[in-house]
Amino acid sequence: MKNVIIMNGSPRKNRNTAKMCESFANGVKEAGGEAEIINLYDIDFKGCRSCFACKLKDGKNFGRCAYPDGLIPILEKVSKADGIVIASPIYCSDVTGVTRCFIERLTFPFFEYKEGYPSIAPKKLKTAMIYTMNVSETLSNQMYPDMFDKTEFMISTVFEKPVRIFAYDTYQFSDYDKYVVETFDKNKKLKHKEEQFPIDLQNAFEAGKNMIQSING
Ligand SMILES: Cc1cc2nc3c(=O)[nH]c(=O)nc-3n(C[C@H](O)[C@H](O)[C@H](O)COP(=O)(O)O)c2cc1C
Repeated sequence: MKNVIIMNGSPRKNRNTAKMCESFANGVKEAGGEAEIINLYDIDFKGCRSCFACKLKDGKNFGRCAYPDGLIPILEKVSKADGIVIASPIYCSDVTGVTRCFIERLTFPFFEYKEGYPSIAPKKLKTAMIYTMNVSETLSNQMYPDMFDKTEFMISTVFEKPVRIFAYDTYQFSDYDKYVVETFDKNKKLKHKEEQFPIDLQNAFEAGKNMIQSING
């Protein structure tokens, strides 16, 4: 059975990003695949330490991350999977720091410092990115395209180019009345959550199905 690993890069395990991950996973299962969601904030790890064990000539860990922490079993799991999904909320105009650390550790060992920077990943995994954010689609299109391209550059280099799935204008607080929030209209946010978020979830579901169908060729 084809297997897809879905990394939730949000600290919240049952909110916007997590729900998009669940929907993607359901799409994978609907198409006959297996899906596992892993919460990145549960794993004890940091970004690349620049140890270069993955680039050492004749090194036993050439081409793989060897820094001994909680991420190693996850990286091994990903290298055996057929697809990887990285989901993140936008924090301060970027993916979360933890997501960024994960991307470093996942991709850098497979990126060879040789002419053309060939990928030495054991498999050309199918990939997808899920982004959730407070801003509207219009603002995101003005502000974030370069950031998405940069975030995905190493992923596209070592695996396949990611499919992008978005949830804009997300419902951030469980109760908007409890917090100082003057820049967002809670009624508009609620309307968007009720009318648009189910469509976003459906898009994630379809993307999950499509990933399995494209893996199966
Ligand atoms: C620290 C922090 C920074 C944020 N920065 C941005 C931002 O720059 N742009 C944006 O659109 N949303 C920003 N947000 C909002 C989240 O991206 C948005 O609510 C997201 O959908 C939350 O995902 P979650 O519900 O899975 O945690 C920020 C949220 C936090 C907590």
